[in-house]
Amino acid sequence: MATDATTAAQQFYGRWADFYDLLARATPGLGRLRARAADALALDPGDTVVEMGCGTGANFPHLRERVGPEGRVVGVDFTQGMLARARDRIEREGWRNVHCVRADATDVEFREAPDAVLATFVVGMLADPEAAVNRWADLLAPGGRLALLDAAQTPRWFGWPVNRAFRGLVVASSPSGVEAYEAAPWTVLDERVAAARRALRERADETTHTEHALGVVRITGGRIG
Ligand SMILES: C[S@@+](CC[C@H](N)C(=O)[O-])C[C@H]1O[C@@H](n2cnc3c(N)ncnc32)[C@H](O)[C@@H]1O
Repeated sequence: MATDATTAAQQFYGRWADFYDLLARATPGLGRLRARAADALALDPGDTVVEMGCGTGANFPHLRERVGPEGRVVGVDFTQGMLARARDRIEREGWRNVHCVRADATDVEFREAPDAVLATFVVGMLADPEAAVNRWADLLAPGGRLALLDAAQTPRWFGWPVNRAFRGLVVASSPSGVEAYEAAPWTVLDERVAAARRALRERADETTHTEHALGVVRITGGRIG
């Protein structure tokens, strides 16, 4: 059964899908970060990669480039409007090995275990990011890789003005509105992003971690044994 948060997220992203797609494609520097997140998956040609919360498919070109025409890219999202843009993109590009599934990323199942799972700007939206990361790790084929790309407040010494701007962005992009959270939404986001990374580090044999955009953006990848 859909929770209030699920319904709010689907309505929010459904309403703003066109605008989100524009931001996702046109924000300077974001393409490079997406490429680095795809690199953290260490994909090989022929691999199957699943993207959880794929939105409008902005990561698809990076993933498809790495798995090649013989590999597969599967995008999972629960918002119809976002998936419609992702499917338009697939059709426009003529990608025959990229597919979308409408499902809840926290309990989706696959017949065949994927080689890699990616989630970008998603774990901060999940009530239990730790459980989601463990579930994604369980889905993977042995030796599969999981990577997370997220934004959160920067811990760096010059963080105050950066975090002030970041908080405004978090409020503007909170599907449930500020009142829905028990703490400030940016604190909830920070905690969820940190919890997801902790879970990934605990599950992985080896991890990589890089920080970008003044410490606001983190990319963590891990190999699940
Ligand atoms: C901030 S957008 C990120 C989209 C994309 N990953 C990107 O980097 O542009 C978050 C996306 O996650 C989706 N989402 C959030 N929670 C989800 C869940 N439990 N299951 C499936 N999709 C989810 C939303 O519908 C939305 O499209």
